[in-house]
Amino acid sequence: MKNFITNLPKAELHLHIEGTFEPDLMFKIAKRNNITIPYNSIEEIKEAYNFNCLQDFLNIYYEGAGVLTTIQDFYDLTYSYLKSCAEQNVRHTEIMFDPQTHTDRGVLFETVITGISKACEDAKENLGISSLLIMSYLRHLSEKEAFKTLEQSLPFKNKITAVGLDSSEKGNPPSKFKNVFEASIKEGYIPVAHAGEEGNSDYVWEALDIIKIKRIDHGNNALQDQKLIDEIIAKDLALTVCPLSNTALKVVTDLKKHPLKQMLDLGLKVTINSDDPAYFGGNINKNYFEIQAALNLTKHQIYQLAKNSFQYSFLNDDLKQQYLNELEVYYLNNN
Ligand code: ADE
Ligand code: ZN
Repeated sequence: MKNFITNLPKAELHLHIEGTFEPDLMFKIAKRNNITIPYNSIEEIKEAYNFNCLQDFLNIYYEGAGVLTTIQDFYDLTYSYLKSCAEQNVRHTEIMFDPQTHTDRGVLFETVITGISKACEDAKENLGISSLLIMSYLRHLSEKEAFKTLEQSLPFKNKITAVGLDSSEKGNPPSKFKNVFEASIKEGYIPVAHAGEEGNSDYVWEALDIIKIKRIDHGNNALQDQKLIDEIIAKDLALTVCPLSNTALKVVTDLKKHPLKQMLDLGLKVTINSDDPAYFGGNINKNYFEIQAALNLTKHQIYQLAKNSFQYSFLNDDLKQQYLNELEVYYLNNN
């Protein structure tokens, strides 16, 4: 099974580039930018990664992202993640980035997007991995600030496919961002949002009905409401589920109690993702390994999860079909 997962062609649809910041790269970049971080060793950093909830994690995640300053920093961060994709047979990835985490510190939007997008172009050329970008608004900030970010993105519109909504969920429902999502859709961006991670099923309803999302990031708490489940199926929306993130942030107490299998049985279109792999103890393949073992998933279920990852990506139809064919051949030869 481990071999089957390792070589399985797959896509990652829920990944924050700032969440891929491994401690060794963090030290290297902090040093070259003359920035001090409050840790003396990689071990000390790892010890700090002990969270009781989403907010515990976000405090440390924003602090880590605070050393990213130059185009080269964003390039190195992104290229390093894309190299790890190549090692795991991730064929396609949809990368979220949080512009406000950087622009609020005086880093230009242009610096962020230039470094990230150049790494994506080079990875396509050198590693054969396709990628696209999801610009995420920070929901603990105001809608007005999100509008400012939307404005800043417009000269780089051809490099960005979708807009997302992340950060502290509780108390910051999707309806707070109704107008900026409407404007983002008008600009041609595809809307997605974190919903039902810590927030209840009302947050998922709002994400569907008010900001009109095309994919649900997490969505665990949608299971509280059968009508909502029916609606998600009727709208054919996928859920980007992140098992190791859920245990790290205590959204789920134990992987054995993770609702992923229940979601599959209900007919929901689920995908497996790593969210913030540097912080949650595992890349995408480790998420597949651990959830497979915890829930005793079959090879066919694993295949279905990978199939969903291509099917519900925002790729154009040709490339999507190419990856689906590649996966089909792999499954026929390896099951
Ligand atoms: N930003 C990075 N990871 C996140 C998560 N799991 N939930 C909300 N915001 C995030
Ligand atoms: Zn996330």
